[in-house]
Amino acid sequence: MGWDRSLYSCIAFISVFIFASSAPFDDFSDLRGPYCENRGRCCNGRQDTCAIPILGTLCYCDDFCNNTRVDDCCPDYWSFCRGIYVPIPTRIPTTSRAPEIEEMKSCTYNGVNYFQKARIKVNCNECLCGGELNSNWTCETNKCLIDGNIIKTINEESPYGWTATNYSEFYGRTLADGIGLRLGTLPPQRFVLRMNPVRRIYDPNALPRFFDSEEKWPGLVSDIQDQGWCASSWAISTAAVASDRYAIVSKGYEKVQLSAQNLLSCNTKGQQNCEGGHLDRAWSFVRYNGLVDEDCFPYAAKFEKCLVKRKGRLLDAGCQPPPYKERKNRYTVTPAYRLGNETDIMYEITRSGPVQATMKVYHDFFMYRGGIYRHTDLSMNELQGYHSVRIIGWGEEYTFNGVQKYWKVANSWGPNWGENGYFRIVRGVDECEIESFVLAVWPHVDRKIFLTNANEII
Ligand SMILES: *[C@@H]1O[C@H](CO)[C@@H](O)[C@H](O)[C@H]1NC(C)=O
Ligand SMILES: *[C@@H]1O[C@H](CO)[C@@H](O)[C@H](O)[C@H]1NC(C)=O
Ligand SMILES: *[C@@H]1O[C@H](CO)[C@@H](O)[C@H](O)[C@H]1NC(C)=O
Ligand SMILES: *[C@@H]1O[C@H](CO)[C@@H](O)[C@H](O)[C@H]1NC(C)=O
Repeated sequence: MGWDRSLYSCIAFISVFIFASSAPFDDFSDLRGPYCENRGRCCNGRQDTCAIPILGTLCYCDDFCNNTRVDDCCPDYWSFCRGIYVPIPTRIPTTSRAPEIEEMKSCTYNGVNYFQKARIKVNCNECLCGGELNSNWTCETNKCLIDGNIIKTINEESPYGWTATNYSEFYGRTLADGIGLRLGTLPPQRFVLRMNPVRRIYDPNALPRFFDSEEKWPGLVSDIQDQGWCASSWAISTAAVASDRYAIVSKGYEKVQLSAQNLLSCNTKGQQNCEGGHLDRAWSFVRYNGLVDEDCFPYAAKFEKCLVKRKGRLLDAGCQPPPYKERKNRYTVTPAYRLGNETDIMYEITRSGPVQATMKVYHDFFMYRGGIYRHTDLSMNELQGYHSVRIIGWGEEYTFNGVQKYWKVANSWGPNWGENGYFRIVRGVDECEIESFVLAVWPHVDRKIFLTNANEII
């Protein structure tokens, strides 16, 4: 009868013995910890979840543990939480706190124990330890923007042709945040899609196999921007394409960074600011109202009051007039025109610089690190959205599948994303619809500049 009990105490004794014997075999010095130190944090007042297991019971790291009736402080409470030296404890803390302690069960995550009602964040989801009924984690079930499984599959299985990574800026955010706040181009309306592409006369076979606007026109192509958590790609890509074309067509006379915020704040009719916009409306705004430069109205990644109204004077808005004397006011463009196919797009870029493209963005694109992107079947049935970007060049790469043609495209997620802010994407097959709605404009560059450089421009 007494067997069971003595067996238990024997096991308990042995385990304490084993536990203690890993340190100098003098006393319970091992009990000193680390406990609160492992937990990483001490708590004010009474917080019953501010505890950590110790020899089958719990000890606490909150102020309440030095209560008059009971001392259930962790052995390192005094040293770690209060910075006070106390002699080595010689006993296991007496746990007599509350009735709920008996019911308190723990959850674990990455080998760390947490107590009931503890909250942790696992990627983009918050988890609560225990509900009413059980002692497991109850987590939100959002799809996260960074998905470890997608990264792993893409990097381990070579046929994809591109690599994926975990961006700390995206980690912890939901896919819905990514689609809702990192893109920002409303799909073209039906009547806009009926816009006829321009016809150009050229020899498609004479186009180079590699082309990069940055090499062709050094210093005249816009830098990579970061739109932040604001769905403004419609404004950023429009301002950047207009800037590039001003700089290139004017041969550097009018090198300017046009203001995306000007569009975000002032092109409000039928547009949704940081929740997306239509490209045809953006271009028509630039055509009729023109844009000021970035210094005049810097990008804020949020909606701000329009300070540079069409009729207002730049000096009244605190802005300098454009440096090129003949330009008295804002930078305007011709109506936007559409480019119909792969070679038309290429020809247009060689003639006057980067063009604007709309693309469909799938979940996996956010994790693109490098290589030639094509969307995978790993995220087909998830949320998708439209984005606008700047095609600046193209090339080909020789892979085990043969020749792979690609576009070189500027994104607006900062220079740390992708290949220094750019990505390459499969060319010639309308991957992610990137070839289906490509736009360009002609800047209103002064005739004098134009004539001075006529030979070089044509
Ligand atoms: C712990 O509580 C006792 C009784 O309230 C008090 O005398 C003692 O100073 C406290 N110890 C510390 C280090 O605060
Ligand atoms: C906790 O989760 C484990 C594994 O998922 C499961 O076997 C167990 O039944 C769960 N416990 C409760 C109380 O829900
Ligand atoms: C991604 O990076 C964050 C730190 O920025 C890290 O905490 C997380 O575990 C990483 N996730 C994956 C799936 O690699
Ligand atoms: C694109 O259209 C032009 C005519 O506008 C044609 O000459 C060219 O061959 C076409 N290119 C492709 C890749 O179909």
